[in-house]
Amino acid sequence: MKRRFAVLTLWLPAAAAMAGADWPMGYLVTHGPAADPATRLNWGLMAISVLVTIIIAALVLYASLRRRPPVPAADNGWPPPQPDTGGASWIYIGTAITAAVLLGTTIWTILTLSAVAAPHRKPSLLLEVTGHQWWWEIRYRGADKPDVMVTANEIHIPVGEPVHIRLESGDVIHSFWVPKLGGKTDLIPGQTNFTWLQADQPGTYRGQCAEFCGSQHAHMALYVVAQERPAFDDWLTRQKADAGEPQSPQAVSGRQVFEARCSTCHTVRGDSAVAGAAGRLGPDLTHLMSRATIAAGRLPNNTGSLNGWVANAQEIKPGTRMPRMDLSPEDLHAVVSYLETLK
Ligand code: CUA
Repeated sequence: MKRRFAVLTLWLPAAAAMAGADWPMGYLVTHGPAADPATRLNWGLMAISVLVTIIIAALVLYASLRRRPPVPAADNGWPPPQPDTGGASWIYIGTAITAAVLLGTTIWTILTLSAVAAPHRKPSLLLEVTGHQWWWEIRYRGADKPDVMVTANEIHIPVGEPVHIRLESGDVIHSFWVPKLGGKTDLIPGQTNFTWLQADQPGTYRGQCAEFCGSQHAHMALYVVAQERPAFDDWLTRQKADAGEPQSPQAVSGRQVFEARCSTCHTVRGDSAVAGAAGRLGPDLTHLMSRATIAAGRLPNNTGSLNGWVANAQEIKPGTRMPRMDLSPEDLHAVVSYLETLK
């Protein structure tokens, strides 16, 4: 029974991968040149380790089961001296094989490190990512200052193009990690680090803060959305545009509530009523509704989540900088209907 279970656990993942299932091997597949060499190294080292373990286990088993032919005792009762059968040379052979395997894997590791250290061609995009407790501020640099676009928790990139990312922290140490696209790089207060990504397939790739940064560290996710160039350009143009004017009376009154209660920490670009107090303590909300999640991946972005989050974020993400708002039900619904105009 035990053996059957072991056989199943070994072969099920492999069979699932061959059948094209995303579980569980899909989690171990990467989609870009900043990550693929490390994945190949990982599988290679795993294969070498398994092979070495099997060979050594077989040799140990063979040596323990092998019986020497009985040797008659000498006249004085002691066993006679053993003839030299050349067994010592196996020590040299074994050491040489071990050294060769270790040297080979070391060279492979060094080559992998240099392959993922920097992109092989000029990055087409420079992003700035700032880690905050507990969300990600993302800036797209433009040709000049007014061209800068700020968003949060969702990075869009063009497929097949290397993207250079500048990493900073607004408070404590965080770590930027999108496992399918690249390795981890820390965001350290007072220091600027760089990393890069490239997605070879369109899709949404989950990222996660990978350095414990406080009670809501686990709820500090981000998403990388890789799109074909034209779709990406459209997205960037829409994100750079100012927010539209709210139309419905409820949304218009919601904007007044927003201006009074939310604009110290949050920005809505182009909103004349809010423009004077462009807060940077919380995420830029200019195109809030274009994002799939809110609160750094904590909740899906929909009316229910927005109501719950605005009413009492502390209930959902205790310790977050977003305070309990204590809005009247009318003000709450008004502000959420204003937020829903931020497409
Ligand atoms: Cu930020 Cu963990």
